[in-house]
Amino acid sequence: MYRGTFKEQHFTFYVSSKNSLNNSSTHQNKFEKTASDSRFVALEVNWIPNLMIKHFTHPLCKFFSVIFLFSLISLTAQSQDIPEDAAAITAGTTLFNGNCKSCHKIHGESVGPGLASVYERAPSVQWIKDWIHNSAKVVASGDEYAVQIFEKYKKSQMTAFTSLKDEDIMNILAYIKAETVKGPAVAKAPTPAAGTEGGDGSSVPSSYMNTILIGMVLILILLVVILAFLVSALKRFLDQRSLSEEDKEVVHSPITLATITRSRGFIFIVAFVVGSLGFKAVINGLYSIGVQQGYAPKQPIAFSHKLHAGAYEIDCKYCHTGALKGKNATIPSVNICMNCHRSVKTESPQIQKIWAAADWDAETLTFGPNQKPIEWVRIHNLPDLAYFNHSQHVVVGGIECQTCHGSIETMDVVKQYSLLTMGWCVDCHRKTDIRAEGNAYYDKLQELHEEAKGKGSKMKVEDIGGLECAKCHY
Ligand code: HEC
Ligand code: HEC
Ligand code: HEC
Ligand code: HEC
Ligand code: HEC
Ligand code: HEC
Repeated sequence: MYRGTFKEQHFTFYVSSKNSLNNSSTHQNKFEKTASDSRFVALEVNWIPNLMIKHFTHPLCKFFSVIFLFSLISLTAQSQDIPEDAAAITAGTTLFNGNCKSCHKIHGESVGPGLASVYERAPSVQWIKDWIHNSAKVVASGDEYAVQIFEKYKKSQMTAFTSLKDEDIMNILAYIKAETVKGPAVAKAPTPAAGTEGGDGSSVPSSYMNTILIGMVLILILLVVILAFLVSALKRFLDQRSLSEEDKEVVHSPITLATITRSRGFIFIVAFVVGSLGFKAVINGLYSIGVQQGYAPKQPIAFSHKLHAGAYEIDCKYCHTGALKGKNATIPSVNICMNCHRSVKTESPQIQKIWAAADWDAETLTFGPNQKPIEWVRIHNLPDLAYFNHSQHVVVGGIECQTCHGSIETMDVVKQYSLLTMGWCVDCHRKTDIRAEGNAYYDKLQELHEEAKGKGSKMKVEDIGGLECAKCHY
């Protein structure tokens, strides 16, 4: 027989249903399939009186009441429809990028499954909501689908998003649906100086230069055509005059490749084209001086963030402790690796390198005197003239590592994700709100800001002096 229990609603076909309405202990998401294998989504049926069903004991009556219920359900189920308006999709994009992107792509796997058409494969929209709110709870409830994907992803636990409201999740689904419909993006050709999400500050000059160059070439072609017309018109004009033999010869001298290449006009044009191409190359070069975006050197030990931070979900700050305390995020010392690797995967030659660096004696379980640090190749490197502080951004500003470093937890080899140019820093300082709530340090400033810019207006980093040269330059 059929029985369905929903988050806030509850109904049953059982004739003797004592644990019926408002039984909060069963406010969980237990689905059982009907004989016809249809699935329910949450609906507002709590007003259907149990008693009414109790008296429909005749099979035919039951049948019709089921039909009746189904039609009701399909009506009320509308409230679970995934929104398709632009506002919802935009809100969903932001939420997705902020919370989910680190582990999920829409098309293709990363730490978790690709989310394209997840609203179709998951048991229900309500299931997705419960899952996102607390996936561990859904798995613990023994839900078959949940247990199955949990096992498939090697029991890596998805973060619980208790703070996301149902509406937020519907917006995320709106985004997922829009992206699903769009299909996977075709890979774009990389443009050397243009930033990816890391920074768009310098994509402008390169695209401008291209347009200008194409324009110049077009103008040149036009000039050549006009000149050709002029020459033939002049010839015709001179033919009508009576000219001496000598002059006639000059007018009708044949145009050969040699005369063209020796002509001053031709030399000028060639010089101009070569000159402007060279100019463009120099400008492009200047824009990318010191820009190391995408830099991914080979490291002395094949340490993988995808494995450690991704699959095993070790917190970034467990290894990069400095990010909470001060300027440098710091690279972990050999000790931290040894916390695990004195026993994990010890037979691997890569791990043996760690042992060698720690001068680890596996017999006596002690570190020897000949310890030497592992010489990791530094990837991110600002010039000495610039000052950047991690804890200011991570602790005070509340910015995720991934905003600046990309999804490190999906990288086997770390690469520089952002441009790390001044334009990149300044751009973000112009756009990003200060986290002023709950930070007494900003109370007075926020007050003054609202006096000047109107109530409720948010302070950007630039409003607290984030664009002052001396804040970033010694
Ligand atoms: C820390 C990584 C992580 C984050 C962040 C994360 N997820 Fe997940 N998610 C997973 C993993 C891993 C799974 C696979 C199941 C498992 O192992 O728990 C999963 C599974 C899912 C599923 C089920 C997929 C399926 O195929 O049925 C949905 C839906 C989902 N996540 C949505 C989200 C949404 C929405 C967000 C953002 C609000 C999010 N996840 C954030 C790691 C993450
Ligand atoms: C188990 C320890 C460990 C964890 C966890 C870890 N890292 Fe790392 N990280 C390292 C080591 C070791 C290196 C140096 C080798 C390399 O570049 O791969 C490094 C390098 C980096 C670099 C490049 C540093 C440079 O040279 O410029 C960044 C950025 C980084 N990690 C960010 C992160 C983020 C973000 C996370 C969390 C998602 C994280 N790390 C988690 C150990 C760790
Ligand atoms: C919190 C525990 C933990 C810490 C800390 C840790 N690792 Fe690991 N590491 C693991 C686990 C688990 C594996 C996967 C073992 C397996 O594949 O069976 C692993 C695998 C590896 C591998 C791959 C070995 C192979 O041959 O497959 C390398 C290399 C490695 N770690 C390097 C490091 C380095 C370098 C550090 C220090 C910066 C470090 N690990 C810190 C838990 C840790
Ligand atoms: C606002 C952008 C931003 C955020 C957020 C950020 N970083 Fe960085 N990170 C940088 C920049 C810029 C550098 C280069 C710093 C330098 O060369 O002085 C850097 C360098 C690093 C380095 C190598 C050099 C060092 O400082 O030891 C590591 C490791 C690192 N970051 C890890 C992290 C981790 C882990 C987090 C999150 C807890 C994080 N970063 C958050 C911008 C950021
Ligand atoms: C992702 C956005 C983002 C990026 C990129 C970024 N910052 Fe910031 N920065 C912030 C935020 C947010 C704050 C405000 C933190 C706070 O509340 O004090 C801040 C504050 C600062 C401050 C303190 C300003 C003040 O008046 O107290 C300095 C200095 C700074 N950033 C330097 C840099 C440098 C240098 C870079 C580039 C290498 C950079 N930032 C890149 C977001 C960013
Ligand atoms: C938010 C931080 C920030 C602020 C504010 C800032 N800068 Fe910079 N500046 C940087 C960073 C980071 C670099 C290094 C960029 C690179 O290596 O490409 C830089 C580079 C420079 C350079 C280039 C040095 C070289 O080696 O090419 C000059 C010049 C400069 N800044 C001047 C200024 C002046 C003048 C101001 C005030 C109007 C200013 N900066 C404000 C972060 C900042």
